[in-house]
Amino acid sequence: MHIREYTEDDLDAVFRLRRLAFNSTERPERLVQPGRHGLVAELDGKVAGVLGIGEYAQFYGGAAVPMGGIGGVAVDGATRGRGVAAALLDAALPVMREHGQPISVLYATVPTLYRKRGWERAGLFEWVELPMDRLLTTPRPAELMASRPAGEADLSALRDCYLEVARTIDGMADRRPPRIDLAKVLEMDLVSVLPGPNGLRGYLTAQREPGGDMGRLKVYDLIGVDVEAQLNLLASLRSWAGTLDAIDLRITDPATLNLLGATPVRYSVWTSTWMLRVVDLPAAVAARGWPRPANAAVDLEIVDEHAPWHAGLHRIVAEDGAVRVEPGGTGAVRLHARALGPWFSGAQNTHALRRAGLLEGDPADAVVLDQLVGASGAPRLADFF
Ligand SMILES: CC(C)(COP(=O)(O)OP(=O)(O)OC[C@H]1O[C@@H](n2cnc3c(N)ncnc32)[C@H](O)[C@@H]1OP(=O)(O)O)[C@@H](O)C(=O)NCCC(=O)NCCS
Repeated sequence: MHIREYTEDDLDAVFRLRRLAFNSTERPERLVQPGRHGLVAELDGKVAGVLGIGEYAQFYGGAAVPMGGIGGVAVDGATRGRGVAAALLDAALPVMREHGQPISVLYATVPTLYRKRGWERAGLFEWVELPMDRLLTTPRPAELMASRPAGEADLSALRDCYLEVARTIDGMADRRPPRIDLAKVLEMDLVSVLPGPNGLRGYLTAQREPGGDMGRLKVYDLIGVDVEAQLNLLASLRSWAGTLDAIDLRITDPATLNLLGATPVRYSVWTSTWMLRVVDLPAAVAARGWPRPANAAVDLEIVDEHAPWHAGLHRIVAEDGAVRVEPGGTGAVRLHARALGPWFSGAQNTHALRRAGLLEGDPADAVVLDQLVGASGAPRLADFF
C-alpha cells in the first residue's frame, strides 16, 4: 500500500470513492483548497481510500488550539477490511503534527475504527427542537432592541461577536479564515443583527428548509453577548408562530437555552458527538489556555503506539500561571492515548477515565490533571465537517 498527499489529479478518483461511501452527488470543483489537504491510499497503483484534513482551531481555556479536522474518510467497497482506513489514519498523525496541528477532531460514523487509533468522545454538537408554545413562554426582554438585516460591512463585527462568546466555551471553533469562509453567512435566508455601541450585541442566522406543511426554520447561530441581546433574539423567533409549530436551534451558546429558554423537563435534542485525539502532547499543552493554574506538577506515562513522539515519561508542570510539558519523571499516572482527548477537552475527569480503563495510578496525583483543565460545562462545537 502506498500513501501520499492527494493532488488535483486525484479529484475524479476521490469523488468516485465519496459518492460510493456517502452518496455525495455534487462533484467539487477543486480538491486542494486553502485550509484543506488530504491523503490517498493506493493499492496496486489505484486509489483505494481517501482521508481529508481541514485546518481548524478550537478554543480551550480561551486560546485557539490548531486542530486537524478529519472528514470524508472513504474506502473502495471492494477493498474494505484490508487495513486501508487504519493505514490512512496512521499516516495522518505525523502529517497533522508537521502542519502544526497538535490535536485532531472528527465526527465518527464508525467509533471503533477511530478508538483503536486514539480518538475518543470529547464533546457535543447539538440541535434542539423548540416547540412554538414553549418559545412563546420565554421571558420578555426588558429592553427592546431594533434588529436589522446584516450586510457586507457587518461581517467583521459579526465574527467578533461570535468570537467574544465562542472563546469562553471550550471546544468551539475559531471561525477565522482560511477554513471557515465567513462571507458565506450572507447567503443564508435570514441574517439579523443587533447593533450595539461598540460593534454588535448579537446576531441570528437561519435557513428555511423543507419539512412538514410549511417547512422548517433552522436557526444556525443565536448569539448575544448579554442577557438582553439573547432575549431579544429569542423574542424575534415568536414572529414565526403563525406559520411554524416549532423551530430548530443549533446550540452555539448553551447559556441561551439552559439559562434563558423555557424548555420543559423533556425535550427533543439531536446530538452528534465528536472525538478528539491529542496528536502532540507538549505542543497541545503549550497551545491551550489554562484557567489560572496553581503551582503543581504531575508525572505521566503516555501509552501511545501510533504517536511514538510523545509516548513515554513526561511531567506536566504548572508554574507562575503557565503550564508546560517536560520530558522525564516517574510516570506515576499512566494514560492511554485515548484518555488524552477527553482529558484535554474537559469532557471526562480522571475518575471516569480510570473506570473506562484508560488511566492508572494514584488518584491524588491524577486529580492534578482535573484541576488544571478546570472543566466547566460540556465541551461543544457548532460547526460540522
Ligand atoms: C469505515 C471505512 C472507512 C473503513 O475502511 P476499511 O479500510 O475497511 O477499514 P480497516 O480495514 O482499516 O479497519 C480498521 C479497523 O476498524 C474496524 N472497522 C472498520 N470498519 C468498521 C465498521 N463498519 N464497524 C466496526 N469496526 C470497523 C476494523 O474491524 C479494523 O479493526 P482491526 O484493526 O481490529 O482489524 C469503510 O468501511 C468506508 O469507506 N465506509 C463508508 C464511509 C464511512 O463510513 N466512513 C467513515 C466516516 S467517519
